[in-house]
Amino acid sequence: MPRKTENVGPRPPTVGVVGLGYMGLASAAAFARHGVSVTGYDVLPERRATVRSGSSPFHEEGLGELVRSEIQSGRLRVADTLAELADQSTIIFLCLPTPPLPTGRIDLRPIRAGAEELGRALARVNGFRLVVIKSTVVPGTAQTVNAPVVAKASGKGPAQVAVASNPEFLAEGRMVADALRPDRIVVGVSDPRSEQLLRSLYAAFDAPLIVVTPAGAEMTKYAANSFLALKISFANEVSRFSERVGVDIDDVVRGFGSDPRIGEQFLKAGPGFGGSCFSKDVRAFVRAAKDQGVRLRLSEQVVAANDEQTRHAAELIRGELPRGRGAKVAFLGLAFKEGTDDLRESRALPIVREIAGEGVAVRAHDPVALPKFRDWLSKEPAGLQARVSTWATTAEALTGADAAVLQAPWPEYLAWPKAWTARMRQPVIVDLRRAFPTARAHAAGIRLVRLGDGTSMRPAALSTPPTRSPGQNAPRSAGN
Ligand code: UDX
Repeated sequence: MPRKTENVGPRPPTVGVVGLGYMGLASAAAFARHGVSVTGYDVLPERRATVRSGSSPFHEEGLGELVRSEIQSGRLRVADTLAELADQSTIIFLCLPTPPLPTGRIDLRPIRAGAEELGRALARVNGFRLVVIKSTVVPGTAQTVNAPVVAKASGKGPAQVAVASNPEFLAEGRMVADALRPDRIVVGVSDPRSEQLLRSLYAAFDAPLIVVTPAGAEMTKYAANSFLALKISFANEVSRFSERVGVDIDDVVRGFGSDPRIGEQFLKAGPGFGGSCFSKDVRAFVRAAKDQGVRLRLSEQVVAANDEQTRHAAELIRGELPRGRGAKVAFLGLAFKEGTDDLRESRALPIVREIAGEGVAVRAHDPVALPKFRDWLSKEPAGLQARVSTWATTAEALTGADAAVLQAPWPEYLAWPKAWTARMRQPVIVDLRRAFPTARAHAAGIRLVRLGDGTSMRPAALSTPPTRSPGQNAPRSAGN
């Protein structure tokens, strides 16, 4: 039976979504759930077939179920050509990749090619169409790149085709919730008709609509991601200092984050941020500003600070291993965070490279990311491949390990049955996320070493940097 929509109201404009990647598909399915008639298109025939059959091609919480119900309801359809999509949709979103180039700039070729192909399809369409760029692009792209490309390829003027910008703020693992119930919607428009169309599209969403210029909307997306990355890096720096002087970063964040001007979110110290967006976007933001003669000194430092934090995480692990040859580490969680199999920019990769490069045997496990990790490993040098093994179960990965590294805190790791401890050579968990329950560590006979928590290590005198060696850390008292 078709699922009911989230909201009922006047008929919204029809929508087309070009590019059914994570973001395009989540957005398309969310529009459909809000009662919008949506046509999707992807250049990959197998992806079109998967979505048309009511499945998601990606591992993303709740997305498969949402796609299935919206395909069944008939509100979400998949077209085999852009012409069909252009014919059926008043507002057409471009959700195409903007991969990073070695210079830090983004590669605009996919989005330019998509705009051109769409423009050609629009040439044969009657009636007004609004093309909206959802991909993350540097300020000015919609107006200076996409608008002229669409106008030229379609041969249509502003009375028939307009271009707008509407960045998304979806985080992996929460995409469905974020797409269905965004905390705000930012649209960048340059004419009242486009604004009106986007207002009626988003009327069913219970979120404030912020209307700015196209470049303003594009800038907003970069500012948001750069600021979030900056917040994490700031917390990571305070956490390194806290660790050194016997302080727990979580206590500090509770104290300063509860100031409403600061806020506690995105201040969780860890091995550094990963994922497909943050480092790519910060680099592109810095580069785009530089191209305009503006220096973003804070943002310039964010990626360097992140890399330093990752080196620190590796150092913390190293400090728990026996010296000499033969050290073994169980590496738990390989993706850039839990709840996903996405390895892009995952901090697990440089950490594994670094410690395995020093001769440590790494026994890797992840509940869902092992296939992607094996693929990554197969392209690494033979020496590294020889030192890294992958295991289908946590128990196997732990066998004979001198320490278990918790990089992504999946619930199954946190459940830690006592039998796992017995498999290890040394019962030590290096918790890079400070997620492992202290009481459980005690119960399972585990010594817990938490990144950013100086109280889980031997307290150091303020004046003397600690020189920790294996076995020096005292267990933390039970508490969280
Ligand atoms: C991010 C933004 O959150 C999202 O709004 C944007 O659209 C895309 O980029 P995503 O990359 O999916 O989303 O993941 P996110 O949950 O933001 O985490 C990014 C990285 O930062 C992860 O490696 C995560 O573990 C890390 N992180 C996050 C921290 O280390 N500390 C925090 O407090 C928050």
